[in-house]
Amino acid sequence: MRIGIVGYGSVGKALHRLIYERAWEFKNKYGLVLQVVFVCDRSGCFYKDNGINPPETLNVKDAGKPLSSIFKVEPVLETIKKGLVDVAVECTPANFINAEPAFTHIMEALKSGSNVITTNKGPMALYMPTILEEAESRGLVVLYSGTVGGGTPFIYFADNALKGNRIISFRGILNGTSNFVLSKVINEGSSIEDAISEAKRLGIAEADPTLDLNGTDSAAKLVILLNHVFEDKYTLKDIEISGIEKGIPKVDFNHTVKLIASSTPRPRVSLEVISKDDLLNIDGTYNAVEFTVEELGSVYLIGKGAGGRETAGAVMRDLVELKNRLQIQYFRKSYSRML
Ligand SMILES: NC(=O)c1ccc[n+]([C@@H]2O[C@H](COP(=O)([O-])OP(=O)(O)OC[C@H]3O[C@@H](n4cnc5c(N)ncnc54)[C@H](OP(=O)(O)O)[C@@H]3O)[C@@H](O)[C@H]2O)c1
Repeated sequence: MRIGIVGYGSVGKALHRLIYERAWEFKNKYGLVLQVVFVCDRSGCFYKDNGINPPETLNVKDAGKPLSSIFKVEPVLETIKKGLVDVAVECTPANFINAEPAFTHIMEALKSGSNVITTNKGPMALYMPTILEEAESRGLVVLYSGTVGGGTPFIYFADNALKGNRIISFRGILNGTSNFVLSKVINEGSSIEDAISEAKRLGIAEADPTLDLNGTDSAAKLVILLNHVFEDKYTLKDIEISGIEKGIPKVDFNHTVKLIASSTPRPRVSLEVISKDDLLNIDGTYNAVEFTVEELGSVYLIGKGAGGRETAGAVMRDLVELKNRLQIQYFRKSYSRML
């Protein structure tokens, strides 16, 4: 399977390393031969037809240099439009205003016949129905398990582990930065400002954590889960969003406050006072989702919500899923030709 990595930062680089480290395992266990043939950063794309050995490009980026400082690069869209790969993996920064440049990267990859895996939630939060329709009309696949929960497989859990069951609703903590800040304020009496400074010092929060704290990042993940689990056609503007910016309610010893994304009674992200016995009372940077399932009642999944290597791990799962989906498509086509 020929792979192009668009966005060669924390996730993109970790993915390239993982593909290299797991090459034998993927070949033997899944029959998948993975080959990264292009990587792109802001300066452009470096393409090598017989595959890029990770140290070649990782050493350049780890030294803080652009790919163009060493390699002959082409503009990103030019490379994507050539349709050189079976799958383009989109790992550029999220943008919740217009989802660019990722939305164009994804649409052009599909138009050129490449399947897409994205860890970038911007395009899915704003244009998920459009993207999935485009892929379907071309018989291509778009996978996005790294967009929700980093490496923790909330999407596949809903899909595979609960296959054949009926999910009625779900609620969860989908943002590690805000959960870290809330834990510090409620449990240790920190001020919001001190908790944010500590999150930045520990590398948990970005330089500007506004979208984590005001609920936008959680809402983007809620949109993706809603569309995936219920096959709805929500976008970010359909979600009622509030976050930590208006202050955190005071609670007694038996209660705590969490930033909860809920599918019902209407899709929303808001601060909620919950009992300390609630299983969503997890601290630190963890993410957790409670699925209410008709046959089972409440089922919970908890795990790390971010991390470059963890999110690259989600892409590895998507690569296996992509192979399975392509195989099914191939058998369906062969079968219908026989009839
Ligand atoms: N890191 C996580 O824990 C995590 C978890 C889940 C989801 N995600 C999502 O995964 C995506 C990647 O995250 P990350 O942490 O890897 O981000 P990052 O470290 O900031 O890396 C972003 C990469 O995208 C490149 N880039 C930016 N604009 C570009 C453009 N127009 N064309 C081509 N490349 C461009 C950057 O190039 P330069 O190197 O030249 O700057 C950089 O290589 C984001 O959407 C993020 O929200 C991340």
